[in-house]
Amino acid sequence: MPHLLHLDTSARSDSFSRELGATFVDHWRAAQPNGTYTYRDLVKDPVEPIDEAGSRLVTESSVHGVQDLAAMDELASAPELAPAWAVTRPLIHALLSADVLVIGAPMYNFSVPGSLKTWMDRVTLPWLPLSGKTAVILSARGGAYGPGTPREPFDFQEPYLRAYFSTLNLTDIEFVHTELTHAPAVSRLAHLRDIHDTSRATALDRVKELAHRLPPTVRSA
Ligand SMILES: Cc1cc2nc3c(=O)[nH]c(=O)nc-3n(C[C@H](O)[C@H](O)[C@H](O)COP(=O)(O)O)c2cc1C
Repeated sequence: MPHLLHLDTSARSDSFSRELGATFVDHWRAAQPNGTYTYRDLVKDPVEPIDEAGSRLVTESSVHGVQDLAAMDELASAPELAPAWAVTRPLIHALLSADVLVIGAPMYNFSVPGSLKTWMDRVTLPWLPLSGKTAVILSARGGAYGPGTPREPFDFQEPYLRAYFSTLNLTDIEFVHTELTHAPAVSRLAHLRDIHDTSRATALDRVKELAHRLPPTVRSA
């Protein structure tokens, strides 16, 4: 029975990345009637930024060579770490339970929103095993960053997330971008509206296609 974890991180409710995520989920649930689904809106229901104890979870799991959740539970039972682990553990459990991770991720200042970065800082421990999972990043950008565009070198969103997930051994990662999202509302960008419309339609088609073929294989346990 595949499990989908879906995170939204846009500050806007009328959001293109949320539109992609909702479309993915509708199609995925139709394709996977026995699949299970967990959702968190990291803007309406934010994760607390890490504090001293949260940062110690990261360093001490390295120092002590923690390899799995059971060893982490033991290490983090220390009174000074336990409150931070109480925040982090459910986030990690939700992540480890997922076969497919879908993240709605707008581009903010050429990278990811703070709501997503805060979640990453919380869940990322050196031993976290994400191999075998698939991540789908559903992005929206005010500008255009594709190959050959003047802003291509400013894209620190996709390369950053690829690097991040690859260090956690998650290499099965798909990116879908809706670009030029400012064009519909900004009159000086009116000449770009057709390109935006095509980008949005292509992204929605791609999301539907991905929703019908993920996960590629379902874990037996
Ligand atoms: C704080 C903030 C920073 C942004 N930075 C960028 C940026 O660096 N590059 C860009 O192309 N668009 C930028 N935008 C525009 C958003 O990427 C665009 O509005 C996108 O559609 C947001 O995703 P959403 O529709 O899912 O909310 C920014 C918007 C906000 C609110």
